Amino acid sequence: MSTIDQYAVFGHPINHSKSPRIHTLFAEQTQQQLVYTAQDVPAESFDNAISIFFAQGGKGLNCTVPLKELAWQRADTLSERAKFSKAVNTLVLQKDGNLFGDNTDGIGLVTDLTINHNISLENKRILILGAGGASRGIIGPIMQKSPTHIVIANRTVEKAITLSQEFSQLGNITGCSYDEIKNSEFDIILNATSASLTGELPPLSSNLLANNGTCYDLAYSNDPTAFVKWGMDNGAAKSLDGLGMLIEQAAEAFFIWRDVRPETKDIIALLNSERN
Ligand code: ATR
Repeated sequence: MSTIDQYAVFGHPINHSKSPRIHTLFAEQTQQQLVYTAQDVPAESFDNAISIFFAQGGKGLNCTVPLKELAWQRADTLSERAKFSKAVNTLVLQKDGNLFGDNTDGIGLVTDLTINHNISLENKRILILGAGGASRGIIGPIMQKSPTHIVIANRTVEKAITLSQEFSQLGNITGCSYDEIKNSEFDIILNATSASLTGELPPLSSNLLANNGTCYDLAYSNDPTAFVKWGMDNGAAKSLDGLGMLIEQAAEAFFIWRDVRPETKDIIALLNSERN
């Protein structure tokens, strides 16, 4: 068993993950002694891989696509936000041997928007595109910032309606089709579909974004995603991708594990400079 604290991200595919780099930079900055690796773990190997990792002295784990729901099932105890989101991206081995599961994606997004980009969510009309796991993870933390309402639009409308009903106790949240919003206007549009990964775009009418509005793609890429381009072409004051969210969710996980909060500003600047 290694004496240095072990952390890892599990996912499939995982070879392009920036998480080992980000956590190694955090550890250097905060002078924490730890090792963070990436492991390719398909869903069918998850249970076995997790048992081996913690049996060999692992302290904490990040889980990404397609393992977040499995991690939610595997956790012994859950944070409130993880309970709601039904997805876990951060696992911590506790002293009693139990695994605590949290979801830092939503807070990562909210921190990137509100702190790094100075975009308030209060009294804003917010549109979320997509009704899968990515949407589920962000609704709770967004609602805590008191937007006017959230509309969830999805290709498969039933999924949007079901998701909105699950969160309805948090405030004004509705689910609908893309067709139903074609005459509506939003201050902030968040792309939580997986369409960006294949260079596709949900069917969006050109009048959806209010003056001075913000577009944010939860995905990130070296080149602007199709949705970031759509924002730029449709008058967004800011059209952003999810690199900042990735770094902020990592910072929150690092804080949960180490009780030390890394500074993200320089690391966001560094990773941004590397893709230009
Ligand atoms: P994740 O966990 O990343 O959210 P998911 O649960 O598979 O992944 O959900 C993907 C979301 O992207 C869904 O809302 C999906 O719409 P459907 O529910 O109708 O399938 C949406 N999506 C994927 N490709 C899309 C596309 N080309 N246009 C519009 N929506 C798309």
